Amino acid sequence: MRLIIEKDYDGISKRAAEEIKDLINSKPDCILGLATGSSPIGLYKELIELNKEGKVDFSKVTSINLDEYIGLSGDHPQSYRYFMNDTLFNHINIDKNKTYVPNGKAENMEEECKNYDERIIELGGIDLQLLGIGNNGHIAFNEPSEELSVGTHVTGLTESTIEANSRFFDSIDEVPKTAVTMGLGGIMKAKKILLVASGKSKAEVIAKLVEGKITTQVPATLLLVHRDVTIIVDEDAASLLPKNK
Ligand code: GLP
Repeated sequence: MRLIIEKDYDGISKRAAEEIKDLINSKPDCILGLATGSSPIGLYKELIELNKEGKVDFSKVTSINLDEYIGLSGDHPQSYRYFMNDTLFNHINIDKNKTYVPNGKAENMEEECKNYDERIIELGGIDLQLLGIGNNGHIAFNEPSEELSVGTHVTGLTESTIEANSRFFDSIDEVPKTAVTMGLGGIMKAKKILLVASGKSKAEVIAKLVEGKITTQVPATLLLVHRDVTIIVDEDAASLLPKNK
């Protein structure tokens, strides 16, 4: 695991965008696993700038997102499809037909999950999976639990996640209670993983992650067994790390 500490959010955004730019420049038709949340917004802004400056070209890139709320259609402002279009896809030269986000309104969810996993295999696997991390250690919507799922699946959200994500909705009652998410298998099979975290609210979970112990109660700790993980944090998120790390 490679741990990079940058001064602030701006620093992690720039650094993470560089990593993604380098991958696309070395493999223009790469498969990018993308994430939502506030953590990647800055790096998406950087990628938009780099694209405008002609330093990165998305025309051959395929993207596949981690998760989506159940019951929200792609034109709902809080859906992850809407977020991706609005925050990144509408501003870069990516072919929207090659951007995948699970369908939270699919009639047959079981089928949707199966197809999503098959699509990842058909695409040849994810070259780089970008991740944020929940305050409780969730990645995508793989919430702390005794058992974790390997494949894409429907899941209930924990109270703490509903609460944390309510900041994007008018009221907490509007936050969907279920989501469809890539499982740990889909994430762990990515060739490279890039996790970004910023702010004091992430300090505790980042310290847990770096501690070196695996528990399904902090799903992100499973990343410790992946062979190519880079974690980019700012000084606030790194503030509870032992000084020698
Ligand atoms: C959501 C998403 C996760 C994301 C997490 C952290 O629950 N499903 O993929 O990593 O929030 O979000 P933020 O970056 O806003 O702290």
